[in-house]
Amino acid sequence: MALIPILLYPDPRLNKLAKPVQAVDRRIHQLIDDMLETMYEANGIGLAASQVDVHERLVVIDISQERNQPLVLINPEIVWASEEKHLNEEGCLSVPGIYDGVERSSAIKATALDRSGKQQNIEAEGLLAVCIQHEMDHLLGKVFVQYLSPLKRNRIKTKMIKLAREELR
Ligand code: NI
Repeated sequence: MALIPILLYPDPRLNKLAKPVQAVDRRIHQLIDDMLETMYEANGIGLAASQVDVHERLVVIDISQERNQPLVLINPEIVWASEEKHLNEEGCLSVPGIYDGVERSSAIKATALDRSGKQQNIEAEGLLAVCIQHEMDHLLGKVFVQYLSPLKRNRIKTKMIKLAREELR
């Protein structure tokens, strides 16, 4: 297992469209293990492959308190989303230190392959529903700050670029 560097907003690679995973093979298993380790190390509840510069449709999530219930979504698709929406405070490992409100469907149904390549049906509400929608956005090249006003987004961009420069010093 190994930690993988997480791309930071506004890195343009975060805007790439992910392609379907072709085969759930050893390479994908290794990637899943590395992404889980990276997510846990960073204290995140979700990580999309796009965030570690692998542009394939793969997401790992763990919203449990104990950090021992990993959920692996390969080639996820949302098959139903509630009309009812909620505004939730979101954060992202690619935009550290920034939290803001995003409106999303409060419940969803999704399908995905699991770690063993088996089809799984997921019904989610609350935090898990938010997290799945947030991570699936990453696969479409979308970071949550893109839902915010241009003013807020620019402020975040400036802050992130400044932060990156400071880290280079
Ligand atoms: Ni994110």
